[in-house]
Amino acid sequence: MNKEVILSLKNVNVVFSKVGKYGIKEHNFHVLKNINLDIHAGEIIAIVGESGCGKTTLGKIITGLLKPSKGEVKYRSNNVYGFFKKDFQTFRNDVQFIQQDSYAALNPVRTIFQSLYAPIRAHHHDYSREQINKRIEELLGLVGLLPAEQFLDKYPHQLSGGQRQRILMARALSLSPKLIVADEPVSMIDVSMRLSILKLMANLNRELDIAFVYITHDLGTAKFIADEGNVAVMYLGQIVEYGPIRDFIQQPLHPYSQALISAVPIPDPQIARQIKEIKIKGMEMSSLENRNSGCPFYARCPYCHLDCKDDKKEYLTVGKMKVLCPYYEEILNANKNI
Ligand SMILES: Nc1ncnc2c1ncn2[C@@H]1O[C@H](COP(=O)(O)OP(=O)(O)O)[C@@H](O)[C@H]1O
Ligand SMILES: [Mg+2]
Repeated sequence: MNKEVILSLKNVNVVFSKVGKYGIKEHNFHVLKNINLDIHAGEIIAIVGESGCGKTTLGKIITGLLKPSKGEVKYRSNNVYGFFKKDFQTFRNDVQFIQQDSYAALNPVRTIFQSLYAPIRAHHHDYSREQINKRIEELLGLVGLLPAEQFLDKYPHQLSGGQRQRILMARALSLSPKLIVADEPVSMIDVSMRLSILKLMANLNRELDIAFVYITHDLGTAKFIADEGNVAVMYLGQIVEYGPIRDFIQQPLHPYSQALISAVPIPDPQIARQIKEIKIKGMEMSSLENRNSGCPFYARCPYCHLDCKDDKKEYLTVGKMKVLCPYYEEILNANKNI
């Protein structure tokens, strides 16, 4: 991809403290470990991983809602934590976060009109009341909520989950962002409405050239929206595999990715035949708090080697993919269906 990198994460680490009884700090644990990610203008990246692996934390890091414990967040090549207030604000406007729970994201005592009015007013001091009204109508049109008058005086609880997600999208768009991070935007809405929200994001990406980071635990929706984009597969706070989602689905390389894909029904029988189910070790869910050093998948990987517990693992480049497993080839060979 030749487009410019708008945002990049360099060796980002986030460490949280577990606080026990009486507020006493028990221990620290890594929620994100050595995350490197480049986001290009106008691209779509899906971040896929199971619940609790650090996806929302990563979304907050990208959007500047949370500062890394270590590492850098760069917006247009500049470290955002070195910005003066005004530039930091520009970065925050340009990079928007849409949270999973649309109900919690909207002020329950504000009408839709009021929720959209405030950010436009703050962003465009010079706009007249008429201009703001016009912009609100335009935004509601962009997210498919027409006729606008039908929604302006409503309160969040009077809308469906899908409609509220669209309002969040409109609010994010009001700041003319370059990048939107959407955190599981369809996981809390009716299955019947999911596709239309995903299509809306794909359209906004195409028509307004806004880059999207789509966070999900569901590979199916990731494939739908990022079909021409990239996927980052996360496991316990680390990206274990990264690259074009089409290549990924054809041939997942990391053993965790293989386990992930073998669990998803794939409509293409040719691909489905190639993918053999991986028997994961242990029934217990792994957690960030008791993760071992080295490869995050070590405890569950049926192919682990002793040195997988060493921490200094580099990503290997395989075609357009990057994978955090030095033994991927051996594992692929072991799994070939002949
Ligand atoms: N502010 C916080 N303080 C301490 N732990 C947190 C905080 N936020 C999230 N966590 C923990 O970090 C881990 C990852 O959370 P999260 O990023 O929300 O994962 P995901 O979105 O993939 O489900 C979880 O174990 C969660 O309990
Ligand atoms: Mg989350």
